[in-house]
Amino acid sequence: MRAAARLRFALRPATPLRSEVFVVTELLLLVHPWLGYAVSALVLVASLAAFKRAKDGVEFRAGLYRGAYLLLSVQVLLGIVLYGLGGYWDAAPLIAYVHPVLGVLALGAGQALLARARKTQMAADAHRLAGRGLLITLLLVIISIGVASIATTLT
Ligand code: HEM
Repeated sequence: MRAAARLRFALRPATPLRSEVFVVTELLLLVHPWLGYAVSALVLVASLAAFKRAKDGVEFRAGLYRGAYLLLSVQVLLGIVLYGLGGYWDAAPLIAYVHPVLGVLALGAGQALLARARKTQMAADAHRLAGRGLLITLLLVIISIGVASIATTLT
């Protein structure tokens, strides 16, 4: 896929901003996957922490969970920029539609469950709900990464 992205870029008409755009695209091709793996690890750690806090009856604080979703938001944003700069709407459907939709869904579903958790009275229930939201997010993120890997391997 990287070769395909470069070829698509090379075939575009020249503009004064082209080399800067090329550098940013190359940088995002490097950063986006690695940040994706780091975000997945953080979401996993946050969900395990949530279930432990529920078990220990710790007071509900959403800081760690919000941090995980903040990093995921940055990842989605970088993905959108990469998508726009690389013209990925012309790519294979798995990378053009399925990967981005799953990424956005992962963020939306997790944040919706965190919002519900923050309104929950009992701290243990709130942590458990936040943990479930993070696990659903993790599942969608893993499927999203898998789909992107299949697409990049096949192209
Ligand atoms: C949950 C959020 C996301 C995660 C964790 C994630 C992670 C990844 C990973 C790991 C890859 C590399 C796959 C591989 O080559 O094996 C990738 C590729 C890609 N992602 Fe995402 N992504 C996310 C969201 C998005 C979104 C929202 C968009 C665009 C709207 C996007 C656009 C892309 C594109 C265009 C590629 C292909 C890059 C290439 O040509 O190698 N991603 N993503």
